[in-house]
Amino acid sequence: MDRVRYGIIGIKGVGAKHIELAQQHEKAELTALADVDASAVKQQSEELGVRGFTDYRDMLDAGVVDAVSIATPHHLHAIIGLACLNAGVHIFTEKPLANRVSEADTMIETAKAKGLKLCVGHQYRTYRTPQTMKHLIETGAIGKIMRVLWTWIEFRAESYYARDIWRGTWRHAGGGVLMNQTSHDLDLICWLIGEPVQVSAMIGNQFHEAEIEDVVCASVLFANGAYGSIQLTINQPRGYSIRQIAGDRGTIMIPDVQSLAADRPDHLLLGTHADALSTLVSRTSGIAAQPETTWKTVELLNEPAGHPVLMDSFIDAILNGGEPLVNGESALPAVELINAIVLSGMQKKTVDLPVDRGEYDQLFEALSRGEIQAPRAKR
Ligand SMILES: NC(=O)c1ccc[n+]([C@@H]2O[C@H](COP(=O)([O-])OP(=O)(O)OC[C@H]3O[C@@H](n4cnc5c(N)ncnc54)[C@H](O)[C@@H]3O)[C@@H](O)[C@H]2O)c1
Repeated sequence: MDRVRYGIIGIKGVGAKHIELAQQHEKAELTALADVDASAVKQQSEELGVRGFTDYRDMLDAGVVDAVSIATPHHLHAIIGLACLNAGVHIFTEKPLANRVSEADTMIETAKAKGLKLCVGHQYRTYRTPQTMKHLIETGAIGKIMRVLWTWIEFRAESYYARDIWRGTWRHAGGGVLMNQTSHDLDLICWLIGEPVQVSAMIGNQFHEAEIEDVVCASVLFANGAYGSIQLTINQPRGYSIRQIAGDRGTIMIPDVQSLAADRPDHLLLGTHADALSTLVSRTSGIAAQPETTWKTVELLNEPAGHPVLMDSFIDAILNGGEPLVNGESALPAVELINAIVLSGMQKKTVDLPVDRGEYDQLFEALSRGEIQAPRAKR
């Protein structure tokens, strides 16, 4: 194979970007579109001169695609993804990989067993700020990571959920501020810091009629010994979201994050100490003496970024072997962390990771059936 026959499932939202990418890629040929919206399929497929389907299963049966992008609501990523993999088709699924870790496991195992590629739409990893943070961490600028503070603050009105009903339900969206607005952030946290091993969290719904959680406060312990605090809300206007990653030798600090929902440039500061804090703790005299910190602004790396980079890596992996930039295994920790936060918040307990799959499936069913609810603030 020297060109990949490509299909898009879910074409109206971010699927439009996948259409454009497949059309423009020199090693891909856009051959088919599928969406439950018959008029959108008719109009787009005629315009682009490709096959159109109102049921993705007919697209798979027609044998016209080697690979697809899945840009549908969250609950369909696993259902459609597994159908594609079982039909021998490589998948580039939008984020999140799946709503539940048990589904994510099955997708990863199936792709592996069939020798197919699984790419996940976490393009934030390619953005300027995360790339720069990763570079600083990997080159030892802050030493061993000890503490993380990560906040994400934006506002979503009720009309946001009224426009797309699926976004407000556990069954379809798999959660609110966690699964929908900040699954990229949870992915970045795991990618930058490492594997989370313990979570203690509170989640709630302060404002919204929708079922899902709109506020989260979580404490996370990572396998490398770092302690993290995560605060996420869609109940306050954007402004002064903070990120700090503090290590033995220095701290990365963003006092007012601009790249919450796009690749906007951030003011990123790096503070460093003359020596490792673990050494200074015994060498510093004076009971309240503070080791000196030297602060400077760090110029952001500016490499190619976004969906095109993921698409390139996906097509390259299909044609030449290797793995896409964000494969199933590397996207799993974010789902694991989100599920752990929900489990901890709903059951008011500390959760060890990996999450107990059966326990989360049971909780998720109860949330989806409306038998239990994210705690509601008194209104
Ligand atoms: N990577 C990113 O930054 C990014 C940005 C936006 C959205 N997303 C993700 O992309 C996915 C889609 O989000 P959106 O905002 O485009 O949603 P959307 O609701 O605007 O679009 C979803 C599309 O899927 C179609 N669809 C629904 N059920 C279907 C089915 N059974 N078969 C085929 N098509 C079906 C809908 O008709 C619609 O065209 C979500 O997972 C979302 O989280 C990712």
